[in-house]
Amino acid sequence: MRTRIAAGNWKMNLTAQEAEALATALVSNLADYQGSAKMILSPPFPYLSQIVAATASKSDLISVAAQNVHQEAKGAYTGDTAASMIASVGATHVIIGHSERRTYYQESNALLASKIDIALANGLTPIYCIGETLDQREAGQTLDVIRAQVEEGSFHLSDAQFAEVIVAYEPVWAIGTGKTATPDQAQEVHAFIRGLISDKYGASIADDTTILYGGSVKPANANELFAQADIDGGLVGGASLKADAFTAIIEALG
Ligand code: PGA
Repeated sequence: MRTRIAAGNWKMNLTAQEAEALATALVSNLADYQGSAKMILSPPFPYLSQIVAATASKSDLISVAAQNVHQEAKGAYTGDTAASMIASVGATHVIIGHSERRTYYQESNALLASKIDIALANGLTPIYCIGETLDQREAGQTLDVIRAQVEEGSFHLSDAQFAEVIVAYEPVWAIGTGKTATPDQAQEVHAFIRGLISDKYGASIADDTTILYGGSVKPANANELFAQADIDGGLVGGASLKADAFTAIIEALG
């Protein structure tokens, strides 16, 4: 059975105090949560350990993710953060290949493959992000772009390694724009991704892989997105910055 997940990507938002207040409010909102979905919070680096501590009483339900990781184990990389450091403060997941990093920092599929490797080697679960731009969608290239991102970024992994990966499909044109892919548009790509995984790793691993949708997920559209057969939750930016909205999103997962 794949896990259904509401993952909040706080990006470069919130002070330490605001982040702690948000995490505390979520823990309180989820005090009586009986559903089977899980929540992941991805704060800025300086507060990783603080958010691990703030959610510790609900660690069965809430995990903490870094927003990026360096591909090397350690060394002279001023300003960067190693996978072992992320793991050492109790975070368990890491977002890899978010479109903002692909765009602003020119992160390639090959680089992201090595980031996935170092994450896995340190026991971190990669949340591997893929998605097409508007130009690519309008040119009819969506599925080719997705195929290349999935294959080049993650198909070097063994079966056991791939089974640890969470995939996040985030059409770039839907991120932070208020434009959401329709449930049918998202489902089409999710089913395609699951098919690629099935062809490579077999139906069982494909069936167990959590594939999140990201791009302007909010309480008002979460139900219809999460009702799709191959959408197993959301990677949520803006709506994860408000405790009540993000609580409604995990509740939409059941
Ligand atoms: P958004 O961001 O929900 O604000 O569109 C999603 C993401 O970038 O992960």
